Amino acid sequence: MVVWLDGDLGAGKTTLVRGLLRAAGESGPVKSPTYTLVEVHVVSGLNFYHFDFYRFNHAEEYLDAGLDEYFSAGGICLVEWPEKAAPFLPAADIQIELRVPPGTASDGRVARIFAAGARGRTCLAGVRSSSTPPPA
Ligand SMILES: Nc1ncnc2c1ncn2[C@@H]1O[C@H](COP(=O)(O)OP(=O)(O)OP(=O)(O)O)[C@@H](O)[C@H]1O
Ligand SMILES: [Mg+2]
Repeated sequence: MVVWLDGDLGAGKTTLVRGLLRAAGESGPVKSPTYTLVEVHVVSGLNFYHFDFYRFNHAEEYLDAGLDEYFSAGGICLVEWPEKAAPFLPAADIQIELRVPPGTASDGRVARIFAAGARGRTCLAGVRSSSTPPPA
């Protein structure tokens, strides 16, 4: 499973991953991978690989670092700044766009979630069925 997290600096990508990992059962620290490139969390029998490619100057750095191996390892790959590793990065099953609504930075974020392919659509259907609809 590959999840792309799109959004400006401070849009809430790391915070969303932290919440997702907490929900999955992670009780230890969830650090930003900005400097390490990847943080690994093994939780609830799943391998989560959390990436941040912000510091890449060239997309080739993704291959040079051998990070493509994580994407064929059967885990869940959560990627901040995926555009920095294009065109080498595998396509997203789920793409999440985060943005700060005007004037309410401390109140929350707006997320648009897109699914691609059967795996992504199955995942998104699960999210929809387990979430509370917004007020009309
Ligand atoms: N849903 C939210 N509601 C309120 N504050 C939030 C929310 N999500 C993130 N924040 C706050 O916004 C700030 C930036 O969040 P975060 O580090 O997750 O952004 P980011 O998108 O990962 O940034 P970067 O591109 O630098 O990695 C933090 O102070 C965080 O607490
Ligand atoms: Mg971040």
